[in-house]
Amino acid sequence: MSGKIVPATAETIARAADALRAGALVGFPTETVYGLGADATNDRAVAAIFAAKGRPRFNPLIAHLPDADAAFALVVADARAVKLARRFWPGPLTLVSKRRAEAKVSLLASAGLDTLAVRVPDHKVALDLLRVVARPLAGPSANPSGRASPTTAAHVAEGLGEAVELILDGGPCRVGLESTVLDLTRRNAVLLRPGGATREAIEAEIGAVGLADDDDEVAPRSPGRLAMHYAPTLPLRMGAEAVRPGEALLGFGATAGATLNLSPAGDLVEAAANLFAMLRALDRAPHTGIAVAPIPAHGLGLAINDRLKRAAKR
Ligand code: TXA
Ligand code: MG
Repeated sequence: MSGKIVPATAETIARAADALRAGALVGFPTETVYGLGADATNDRAVAAIFAAKGRPRFNPLIAHLPDADAAFALVVADARAVKLARRFWPGPLTLVSKRRAEAKVSLLASAGLDTLAVRVPDHKVALDLLRVVARPLAGPSANPSGRASPTTAAHVAEGLGEAVELILDGGPCRVGLESTVLDLTRRNAVLLRPGGATREAIEAEIGAVGLADDDDEVAPRSPGRLAMHYAPTLPLRMGAEAVRPGEALLGFGATAGATLNLSPAGDLVEAAANLFAMLRALDRAPHTGIAVAPIPAHGLGLAINDRLKRAAKR
């Protein structure tokens, strides 16, 4: 497994960029922790991240960019975002803003939300890789779900060696703690995850910052900011064997008469890759509801069913 660790050089960074463009996963260093990188514009590559980490849920991922201009081409930057970018980027601050309609980032990367998390990492290898690959990289911490975040290339090999094409070794991470995640989508900025950039330093730039737990809008949905999720406007029904009048049918595998099919071949990675885009496509007139065929409850099927359950519950 450790054979996949390569010292980061111009040559190995070019190799990593080629692998990423081809849809593979790559371990890469940042100043905070090592990331599990995938081309954020490629639905299947993003689905492979969730499969590799074994996450029971589709948490939205951070899009990594080489500079603020590239980041703000994907999200709408207000005055606060511009100020914070000037002060903290490159660095351990992730900004959640409204996603631009034209942003080509996979809907799965932002878990179907209208928002997107962006960050410019402060690490030469990460920045070189981002410039060479010239695509936003989705990058959760490169550890299996439930395990500690990796701060060396060897940690990545231990946990996810099977899943990655290669691991760029940039030495131990300087910060060793994930980035601070700040939600700028509402009038009051909210700290979603404390991290490498302190609340005090952020407040010095933009004034008072709320904590997710004591924010009125968020608190009723606690515990966990995980409650935040994409929900279609039409009612959704799971485990559907047949459609009712007015319903669109989202199929899986051999579903007969599906309006759209998540994966005719019954491949859960393909189904995850298509999930949010297909839900959005069906969530409109003339349909009056969305019926979803049964999805197996193993592998990525767990995360798919988790999302559908939340969407069905409202
Ligand atoms: O330091 C870091 O941020 C590392 C390195 C690799 O960059 N990455 C990282 O990613 O920690 P991850 O996926 O483990 O954590 C991303 C966090 C999660 O808490 C997620 O819920 C939040 O960011 N997040 C991402 N997109 C979001 C969105 N659209 N709205 C709200 N929260 C979001
Ligand atoms: Mg993590």
